[in-house]
Amino acid sequence: MDIAQSVQQLKPSYIREILAAASDKNVISLAGGLPDEKTFPIDLMTPTLEALPAMTQVFQYGSTSGYEPLIEHLTQAYRLPATHQVITCTGSQQGLDLIARAYVNPNDTVVMEAPCYLGAMQVFGLMQANIITVSQDEFGPNIQQLEQHFKVSSPKMFYAVPDFHNPTGVCWPLEKRRQVAELCIQYNVAFIEDAPYRELRFAGEELPLVSDFCPDHSIVLRSFSKVASPGLRVGTITGKQSYLAPLIKVKQGADLHSCVPVQAIVLGLLEHPDFPKHLAQVRALYQSRYNTLFQALKTYLSDDCQISPVEGGMFLWVTLPKCDTFKLAQELLANNVAVVPSPVFYPTQDEAPPAMRLNFTNANSEDLLIAVQRIADVLTNAR
Ligand SMILES: Cc1ncc(COP(=O)(O)O)c(C=O)c1O
Repeated sequence: MDIAQSVQQLKPSYIREILAAASDKNVISLAGGLPDEKTFPIDLMTPTLEALPAMTQVFQYGSTSGYEPLIEHLTQAYRLPATHQVITCTGSQQGLDLIARAYVNPNDTVVMEAPCYLGAMQVFGLMQANIITVSQDEFGPNIQQLEQHFKVSSPKMFYAVPDFHNPTGVCWPLEKRRQVAELCIQYNVAFIEDAPYRELRFAGEELPLVSDFCPDHSIVLRSFSKVASPGLRVGTITGKQSYLAPLIKVKQGADLHSCVPVQAIVLGLLEHPDFPKHLAQVRALYQSRYNTLFQALKTYLSDDCQISPVEGGMFLWVTLPKCDTFKLAQELLANNVAVVPSPVFYPTQDEAPPAMRLNFTNANSEDLLIAVQRIADVLTNAR
């Protein structure tokens, strides 16, 4: 049987390969985007887990838009306007897939940041979208370039991760959020705001969503993967009803609805009086690991490597002197450290400046220090 053309053109995932290599116990992995297993709030989920056998109704077929008590809770928690709604989905990744399938025809233009979240490139690539990119600096996307794209290419949507970007860790300042929202309204472009790291702010001031400035031109994706556990596979999509109605149709065809008992577990977790304490502990742990990694990089790497500080999330982006980053990642792996080289995050890999993404949430501080010393040694030897 011939494989569909849309699937044939998918490149093998370098990340999958590197993560497989990084699962070796001797490798210190700074490659994945994994939360630390020790943070999984199993104890806060236990009351619901124990109550489940008596909750027969959650084992019946459910509603496509989600488990009603969870939807009610989230509608209030997200302070949604009456015209907006929530859909729960099987991880925010499914939200992205539903958006792409509901709205993107082959050759429709989608604007993304460069570098960009790999999973989004895959989803829009599968729909054979015409992906064009806007460059990014430490303050988010280049506004002049974005407006030019909106003017010249009339894209259907702009997909972005404004809070603690994957892979760069960049968090857009307030003014940038306003500017992007205004452009989306002016040029009638839907803003797809992917916000899985928003709850992981450990420094600085909380900022409004970009979508708060363009609520009728945006869809927001959130996730419980980073603050609870990724294995639960629960995320949410919010936006105005007319935007979300086609997503419900596509979800019906995809999986009828997300797992109801798991949605009940997430509700129990969110309503647990100790959930805010759990969040604070996760943030404090990640902040201390980030501090260790950042300080070590500043201490051990030479001045031609640039590292911008972050205020949350899971990643640091290290800009390197000119080099073959794939070769560097292989050499690091030979030295038992896994990192992700920059080209993986660019639709056109040749355009990637030399850099690497480092994760600071999964390895402990001791291992982070050892990893940085090995990175510094490999970089010195490569000179
Ligand atoms: C930017 C971004 N969006 C979406 C996802 C998918 O998350 P989920 O586990 O909710 O499907 C990830 C996962 O790492 C991510 O980094």
